[in-house]
This record gives sequence, structure tokens and C-alpha cells, in this order.
Amino acid sequence: MSDRILVTYASRTGSTIGVAQAIAAVLTEKGFQVDVIPMPAVKEISPYKAVVAGSAIHSGAWLPEAMAFLQTHKSALNQRPFAAFLVCMTMVMGGGKYRNHVSTFLQPVRSLVKTRSEGLFAGALNIAALPSLSDRIKFRLSVLFGIWKEGDHRDWNAIRAWAAELPNNGF
Ligand SMILES: Cc1cc2nc3c(=O)[nH]c(=O)nc-3n(C[C@H](O)[C@H](O)[C@H](O)COP(=O)(O)O)c2cc1C
Repeated sequence: MSDRILVTYASRTGSTIGVAQAIAAVLTEKGFQVDVIPMPAVKEISPYKAVVAGSAIHSGAWLPEAMAFLQTHKSALNQRPFAAFLVCMTMVMGGGKYRNHVSTFLQPVRSLVKTRSEGLFAGALNIAALPSLSDRIKFRLSVLFGIWKEGDHRDWNAIRAWAAELPNNGF
């Protein structure tokens, strides 16, 4: 098997892509060859010795194409080191006190593929970039009532620190 690692992602408004790229940059610095590919574009897992997969959270779950990726490739993913991450706004709320709750968002992932490591990351909310008018209204109201905070809340130090630990988890 090659030394190549796949970092794959599912995103709607781009913030998860940035997280995937930051993880890939750390792994590249550590000497791995890394491909960063959106999940629907991944054809084969066989070229990779390990896989890192992450999705934005919508309605408390990985995006549908991310769960479809797991269903399609679960056998190959279970045969190599696999790490999962998520990007969501609940991590921003209450200074991170909902971390245990956020961890439950990965339960459907765990039930399909064994995870060696899990990254829970705060995301970004750019309401103007949302394609759906009803979502834009819903999130404007949520911001108005103080439930969500608009803006980019990604914690690059936390993301890089998690990525730097992956080689200690068999990657
Ligand atoms: C329609 C929609 C639903 C969302 N649902 C949740 C949710 O249930 N829980 C949560 O913590 N964040 C939720 N978020 C916030 C996103 O997970 C967050 O903005 C993330 O950074 C988006 O990633 P992306 O830019 O890669 O699409 C939602 C965002 C949108 C637009």
C-alpha cells in the first residue's frame, strides 16, 4: 500500500473545505503525500493507506453525500486507519460546553466505520451565502435571538493540533 493519505470532505458554503485543507497541510508537513478531494468525487479508496473524512453538520448530522460516501466505501474504510471530523456551529455555543452533545452527531458515522480519532470543530456561518431563502430567514432570526453567531469561528490551532496527532493514531 502507498504512503498516500486521502483527506475528503462534504461542504455547502466552503468552511469545511478550509478545515480539510488545513489538516492536509499538517500531514504534508509531516512528510505524507496527501490528496484533498470532495467526497462525491472519490472513486477509489485502494490507493490510500489511511483516510480522514469530514463534513459540515446540518440538522445534527453529516451531510447526505458524506453518509453516502461511508455507505459506498465502508468495507475499504474499515480496512485502514480512518479518522472523522465535523464542522458545526454548536461548538461555538456556550464556549464549547456542548462538546459531548456534538460528539453524538458522529454516532451514525461510528456505526458504519471504526474511527481512530474524531475532530469536533467550530465552523463559520455566512448567511448571505446560503442558497435557500428560508434558511437565510431562519438563520437571520437565530442570530437575532442570540442562538447563533454569524462569522468565521474556525479555531485553526485546534484543527492543526488534531491533525498533528493523527500519526500517533496509526496514520
Ligand atoms: C441549513 C443549515 C443547517 C445547519 N444545521 C446545523 C446543526 O444542526 N447544528 C450545528 O451545530 N450547526 C448547523 N449548521 C451550521 C454549519 O454546520 C456550519 O455553518 C458549518 O461551518 C458549515 O460548513 P460549510 O461551510 O462547509 O458548509 C447548519 C448550517 C446550515 C446552513
